[in-house]
Amino acid sequence: MTKTAADIPLLTLKGQQNEIGAEVKAAVARVLDSGVFILGPENKAFDSEFARAVGAKFCLGVDSGTSALELALEAAGVGPGDEVVVPSFTFIATATAVSALGAKPVFADIDPVTLTLDAKSVEGALSPRTKAVIAVHLFGQPCDLDPLLSLARSRHLAVIEDCAQSHLATYKGRPTGSIGRLAAFSFYPSKNLGAAGDAGAVTTNDAQLRNIIDELRNCGRSAIGGYHHVRVGHNCRLDEIQAAILRVKLLRLEAWTASRQRLAALYNEGLSGLPLKLPPLGSKTTRPVFHLYTVRSDRRDALAEDLRRHGIGTGVYYPTPVHLQPAYAVSGVKAAALPVSEEASREVLSLPMYAELSTSDAGRVVETVRRFFKK
Ligand SMILES: Cc1ncc(COP(=O)(O)O)c(C=O)c1O
Repeated sequence: MTKTAADIPLLTLKGQQNEIGAEVKAAVARVLDSGVFILGPENKAFDSEFARAVGAKFCLGVDSGTSALELALEAAGVGPGDEVVVPSFTFIATATAVSALGAKPVFADIDPVTLTLDAKSVEGALSPRTKAVIAVHLFGQPCDLDPLLSLARSRHLAVIEDCAQSHLATYKGRPTGSIGRLAAFSFYPSKNLGAAGDAGAVTTNDAQLRNIIDELRNCGRSAIGGYHHVRVGHNCRLDEIQAAILRVKLLRLEAWTASRQRLAALYNEGLSGLPLKLPPLGSKTTRPVFHLYTVRSDRRDALAEDLRRHGIGTGVYYPTPVHLQPAYAVSGVKAAALPVSEEASREVLSLPMYAELSTSDAGRVVETVRRFFKK
């Protein structure tokens, strides 16, 4: 029987709302009753709770993942004329954050298995102007950081982690967000940890950088506050209401992550033997958190259409690598210069993935995919 379009969506927040809706409403009411809406006790508590969760010394809540990237780059000293190496196969904010500072994103290729930055390609993209590298832990797969960190040491570069999709993922036993000089998290509603609107955070182990971010996010004010401005800053603070909501969800993040990992294992087992490339479930060194569960197929569009007809939602993240976006037509990167990124964009398909997805629904996704390849 053909199912309705809403049968098994790619993503839904309904299950989460059923589980914690009452607690979220109580947290919002607590803030409303307090009358403190900006940089109050909820921010303070969230900063220390999230820092602990990701094993970083410091966390500073901000108003989006994009702001988190911009502030991290600015704190690392990136400015006009500098170059920053970024993957092209990512959400465009990784690159636009560089552009926003007047610096130039230089695009590097990715590893064909993890779909994260390839250190060899990064090395080829370095120039005397390179100031930093942004390692994106895409889809929740940890990027192989060690080769990037050793490159960074020898060339005096900052490694900034883009953890927008990798909350609680680990690399060599350490959580992403605790390894590079600075890291940027997004709490966009659909992220593994999502606010009820835009939100993000910067993490770092460096007390000096922590203080710079604190000033940058709050109009350049020093810790003294008031109308004493020590740098030309921005207004990208995290709202107290969002911090309070994030604190409720953070208590569930470990359990939600385990559920995503179980579902990914179920998918990988059910889909084995098909002409599909499956995402790694992890290794001795990595623990992915499956923000997205993404397979690759040279029949991607036909498979997506077949799943759609059977009421199963899918998504393509991302159909165009950033260096081929019209916005970066001026970047000087020639087409086919990044073959792995370009092939990935043609082949990737994300299947339904959220903590509350039932194993029977995941099983139906598997069966439908298997039937497609039997035809
Ligand atoms: C890899 C990556 N980087 C950066 C961002 C930007 O985060 P935000 O949407 O919170 O600004 C996102 C969000 O989608 C992302 O997926």
